[in-house]
Amino acid sequence: MDTNCMTVSRFIIERQRDFPGATGEFTTLLNSLLTSFKAISSAVNRAGIHQIYGLAGESNVTGDDQKKLDVLSNDVFINMLGASFTVCGMVSEENEKVIRVPAPNEKQGKYIVCFDPLDGSSNIECLASIGSIFGILKKPDTNEPFKEEDVLQSGDNFVAAGYTLYGSATMLVLALKNHGVHGFMYDPTIGEFVLTDPDMLVKEKGKIYSTNEGYFKYLSPGIQKYIDAKKFPQSGEPYGARYIGSMVADMHRTIKYGGIFMYPANTKSPNGKLRLLYECNPMAFIVEQAGGAASNGSQRILEIEPKSIHERAPIFIGSKKDVEEVLEYIQRHDHN
Ligand code: AHG
Ligand code: MN
Ligand code: MN
Repeated sequence: MDTNCMTVSRFIIERQRDFPGATGEFTTLLNSLLTSFKAISSAVNRAGIHQIYGLAGESNVTGDDQKKLDVLSNDVFINMLGASFTVCGMVSEENEKVIRVPAPNEKQGKYIVCFDPLDGSSNIECLASIGSIFGILKKPDTNEPFKEEDVLQSGDNFVAAGYTLYGSATMLVLALKNHGVHGFMYDPTIGEFVLTDPDMLVKEKGKIYSTNEGYFKYLSPGIQKYIDAKKFPQSGEPYGARYIGSMVADMHRTIKYGGIFMYPANTKSPNGKLRLLYECNPMAFIVEQAGGAASNGSQRILEIEPKSIHERAPIFIGSKKDVEEVLEYIQRHDHN
């Protein structure tokens, strides 16, 4: 047993010493997130036995069927974050409107959290990996009461973002602005996330492409040609194909092994499927902090100014050279 293990809380407290004005509010916020991840991880592992598989009987705002685990995960996030006194507003995939945290102004937290409480719900029943995604912003004017528009900030404003993967093990990957990307494996025997993957970096170029190729006939000529080039390269070996259908799992592989993950626009979904505020932005922030790239096909994901909380964006994300290559195909064949 490592008697001196670097837990995520210890890691954050040590890093906070670099910020003279730090009040510990971020540590408190992170602790409330950690409790959420532990609760969801436990629920995911026991879902079958406790019969919380299956549909909850409603659709969420974007029309997806809500699963019982989606509802449970969302409730855990909202309750834990809301009780932390560090948050003034939240955006969740499962809530149509911005969630305001009721608190007297002088006690109102300064942070805004955008989250997808359970990502990859279609994989719950087949026991493939699922996850949670989050991004943390600050209220633009700390002296003013929270306004709903305050959540509409570009991803470049994140102070931190991350995801937790409920896979063969549970792992938290946390990106801190200007402080890199770090992976913490959950050790259920001590109930702590322990640093196992410090300073994660995305390879400059990978050998794997990841997209739902079932949509091939709906894709633009540029993307079709790019996919063909991965399978039938003029020289060298073809890329491997991997697609789990849980963004967190597909992104975790992309960060660990390199390559590209894409959810492009297609004729059926003109803005793609993935949501900017709580799917694309956090992943783009993590990948850029790890040296990779993320684009919607014409601009960096992180510079998009959001207009509404559930808007979608096409996404091309992963190893820098792979993202650059697909952008060249788009430029050459689709932008005319
Ligand atoms: P969610 O479960 O939060 O609704 O997200 C599912 C998303 C994402 O995890 C994944 O990358 C994508 O849906 C898969 O979509 P397709 O089935 O269209 O490939
Ligand atoms: Mn999702
Ligand atoms: Mn979800």
